[in-house]
Amino acid sequence: MADAENPFARRLRDCAQRIENLLARLLDDAPGEGEIARPPRLMAAMRHAALEGGKRLRPFLAVEAARLFGVEGEGPLRAGAAIELVHCYSLVHDDLPAMDDDDLRRGRPTVHKAFDEATAILVGDALQTLAFEVLAGEETHPDAEIRAALTLGLARSSGLGGMVGGQMLDLAAEGRYGRRDLAPDEIRTLQAMKTGAILAFSAEAGSIVAGAGAQDRARLLAYGRALGAAFQIADDILDREASAQELGKAVGKDEGRGKGTLVDALGVDGARRECDRLVGQAQDALAPFGDRSAILVEAARFTVARRN
Ligand code: IPE
Ligand code: IPE
Ligand code: MG
Ligand code: MG
Ligand code: MG
Repeated sequence: MADAENPFARRLRDCAQRIENLLARLLDDAPGEGEIARPPRLMAAMRHAALEGGKRLRPFLAVEAARLFGVEGEGPLRAGAAIELVHCYSLVHDDLPAMDDDDLRRGRPTVHKAFDEATAILVGDALQTLAFEVLAGEETHPDAEIRAALTLGLARSSGLGGMVGGQMLDLAAEGRYGRRDLAPDEIRTLQAMKTGAILAFSAEAGSIVAGAGAQDRARLLAYGRALGAAFQIADDILDREASAQELGKAVGKDEGRGKGTLVDALGVDGARRECDRLVGQAQDALAPFGDRSAILVEAARFTVARRN
């Protein structure tokens, strides 16, 4: 089996399986501690959004970044699961008719198609608050300061100055609110927010939960920023070049909607060169760790070479 020779693919698959199991436990029908009840329709729709799909790259980054500092186990996994819950919420809302209006996600109907729009809005809301509940739990880390640092990081990277703000800029770039045709640097800012911030935090979160010092945290953040920038450019290239079957979502829609992408601004070749430059930057950020960072360097390469 090819996987046996490829530690990256094996680790990504193992991490995805552990995340799947943890998310399935978190999304059980039975009410959790302090809850009054869990409406079955909401639970079914949340499971539709969060289970059995996705590359689980964000949890992988958190888990591997923690492992770089010798920390494994439930803490990094829970930090990764919290980030994945926010990511899944962002996808559910991104697909809504008022936003990108997509019918297919992870090879299945989007939540508003399989259920309805109101349910999809509530699914996003509930996935987001569950994520913060997970981070706040003592099982994530016994030290309240570390839990607070994780909470702060996820709030900042997913909120108004991160993913949500980036989504606002993304919609504005379509020309809905007036001006469009962004300069390359404006597109870079939009993408650093809508996609880069959470990916960057994923790597940083691993260092936080591992109790790493400020300098090492900054290294992981720099790595994650470069990887995150490359990730969205690769997503935009795949929107042009891959098939819906490969991606499990609609393709060829960015151009028609007038999305701000570097593929538009620089062409596919220019966008690819930018990806390669960013992978080099991600690798450089981890150079102080030497060979121990090989898996994370591999993750950066995977980000731009992936077919889904
Ligand atoms: C898709 O993210 C949305 C973007 C930020 C471009 P992923 O490509 O990580 O989606 P899944 O989680 O694997 O489905
Ligand atoms: C979405 O970017 C980024 C999010 C915050 C969800 P896209 O709109 O390009 O993601 P896809 O292509 O629908 O997965
Ligand atoms: Mg979008
Ligand atoms: Mg979209
Ligand atoms: Mg896209």
